[in-house]
Amino acid sequence: MADPSSSKRLLVTSALPYANGPIHIGHLAGAYLPADLFVRYQRLKGRDVAYICGSDEMGVAVLMRAIREDRSPEEIVDTYHAQIKESFERFGMSFDYYGRTTSELHEETAQDFFRVLDEKDVFNLKTEEQLYDPEAEMFLADRFVIGTCPVCGFDEAYGDQCEKCGSTLSPTELENPRSTLTDATPELKETTHWYLPLEEMQPALEEWIDTHPEWKNNVLGQIQSWFDDELKDRAITRDVPWGVPVPADVAGRHGLDAEGKVIYVWFDAPIGYISFTKEWALEHNAPTKWKAYWQDEDTELVHFIGKDNIVFHCLTFPAMLMAHDDFTLPDNVPANEFLNLEGRKLSTSRGWAVWLHEYLDEFGDERGPDLLRYALATTLPETKDADFSWEDFQRRVNGELADVLGNYVNRTLTFAHRYFDGEVPPLDDPSDADEAMLDRIAETPAAVGNAYEQYRMREAVYETIDLAREGNKYFNDTEPWHTHDTDPQACANTIHVSLQVCASLAVLIEPVIPDAAQRLQDMLNLTNVRSSTPGDDPEGAIEWDDAAEPLLGAGHTLGEPEILFEKLDDDIIEAQIEKLRERAAEQDSDSTDSDMDYDDLKDNISFDDFMELDLRVGTITAADPVPDADKLLRLDVDLGFEERQILAGIAEQMEPDAVVDTQVVVVANMAPKEMFGLQSEGMVLMAEEPDGTFVPVTADAENGSVVR
Ligand code: 2FM
Ligand code: ZN
Repeated sequence: MADPSSSKRLLVTSALPYANGPIHIGHLAGAYLPADLFVRYQRLKGRDVAYICGSDEMGVAVLMRAIREDRSPEEIVDTYHAQIKESFERFGMSFDYYGRTTSELHEETAQDFFRVLDEKDVFNLKTEEQLYDPEAEMFLADRFVIGTCPVCGFDEAYGDQCEKCGSTLSPTELENPRSTLTDATPELKETTHWYLPLEEMQPALEEWIDTHPEWKNNVLGQIQSWFDDELKDRAITRDVPWGVPVPADVAGRHGLDAEGKVIYVWFDAPIGYISFTKEWALEHNAPTKWKAYWQDEDTELVHFIGKDNIVFHCLTFPAMLMAHDDFTLPDNVPANEFLNLEGRKLSTSRGWAVWLHEYLDEFGDERGPDLLRYALATTLPETKDADFSWEDFQRRVNGELADVLGNYVNRTLTFAHRYFDGEVPPLDDPSDADEAMLDRIAETPAAVGNAYEQYRMREAVYETIDLAREGNKYFNDTEPWHTHDTDPQACANTIHVSLQVCASLAVLIEPVIPDAAQRLQDMLNLTNVRSSTPGDDPEGAIEWDDAAEPLLGAGHTLGEPEILFEKLDDDIIEAQIEKLRERAAEQDSDSTDSDMDYDDLKDNISFDDFMELDLRVGTITAADPVPDADKLLRLDVDLGFEERQILAGIAEQMEPDAVVDTQVVVVANMAPKEMFGLQSEGMVLMAEEPDGTFVPVTADAENGSVVR
């Protein structure tokens, strides 16, 4: 946990998004909004914060998109970098600096880093035969090659990973490989690559991770299973035509030619955090200022990421930093799990996503950001996957922002204008209820702050909105509309205290809904609140901890009240749901139109061949995720005469709860196979629709029945 009393400098990063597509709500909920809440809170606390991010513009993901769209990689990254940067700004992301990994300074920084490690003889160099496409005249790294997965038999597994069973692969492990560029059958050709020796670094990494028992369980759990499987050396160079070039002098040291060799994107990208801190310092005319954030013990480094990036931020990048020995290691990596949408996994290729730029176009730059920030902040997948639904979004906006916060502010300010000439009435001889409410104000900044410090953003937001909820209750209980006639001082006290609640809220809600917080500050005429965005603040500005005390003096003149949040009508929400469904249907029919729609028929088999299969009806009685295998579910299947454990590559499409109690057809004589340390004793049949959706093959028959 970040030490709340710490005056340490804080360097916060969010995972660098690939500049090969727009940002969607899943990205926001993973690595961006939580970080923005955290840094805005820390700035209000008065901490020295540098919040660094930028576009990840190198790597095969960008190159593949360029090839697919027949554009240059430069065009791709220019387009998406601009779009991502703009939509982040519109959403209110408060980066101190947002860079790009195609910058000169980044190239130089990444190459220097690589050179230092090479000169320290940290790397292992390995010469091996790798897949080479003779038509494209290119080595086939990662996603440039597909073939049959040696683990599960899926015949469209990528060179780096099987999307069906989640296994990590290397291209030469694929059976029947073919080039995704030309469909050619690759040849084997010798090449040399630099490897990061993670295997020998495991003990040092284990020792370091042991010093962080406070990290989130989901993060420590994933790290532990990497350790259990034993770390393998990782190639950190590639033979592809897009990336940070391997420096010629470094290759020369080994008698090699650097031509055509680049540094692997997962080596250069995290170094972007360092390059961008340097660029930020330069922008502030303080070229050496970055050093304090990376090389001084008095700095705390926190990486916000999604769970798919854990290994790189908790093991690979720290291993690089350790080997380099000139930089601080991360103090925390509060990774989030994934956000689903309307009960289904987000899928950009299936059109099942809410794109940030589209959302902002539709909901408007003025009110839109706060609504989405609030709805996502209360739904963050902090400990397990979470679900975003449009109806829930509407409930949050109407029931919480409008009914709880907006209504409370509005009734308090309207009352103050109507009965107290728009001034804060004096507090005199407060009742127990008044005192209790003031006590509640006094406790809230520390309680909310504590949740932020422990990366429990949802709790922080709930605690904050709870203050408004209690304010409403206090207002109802003290009945100022009644005491106005019967006991005017009691009425004045209620309005005095309520205005103090509103003023504290105007500070404490700022990280979540900065625009509404600013409007509330204006309504209260509360000037001189410290800003939660980068920049200097005047001496004596009101900050986080000050919100524990009454912020408005008696007689203070208030600003004009306005409606803080309008409610969202049903038709707005229905239109969003409809749009999502239409988009998904469009993608489905697009993929049906393509030449990939139906698999070619396989060669005939004999009846005897068929009779070799033992197909049985079974019922799935339990289903759980498999740690580290994002695609797999572990199923218990009741076959009537016995129960089997079966691993099925369906986790991306089906929630465990949704498959329990389904009757399925099982290949019961499939040879058992071990995957991720678990035995799979059979195979569950699924029909795969042209868009890749799985539908269980069901049979309404007694368990154990033979299918023939
Ligand atoms: O997964 C991703 O989107 C990567 N582009 C994240 C990179 S984070 C980093 F280390 F730069
Ligand atoms: Zn597989």
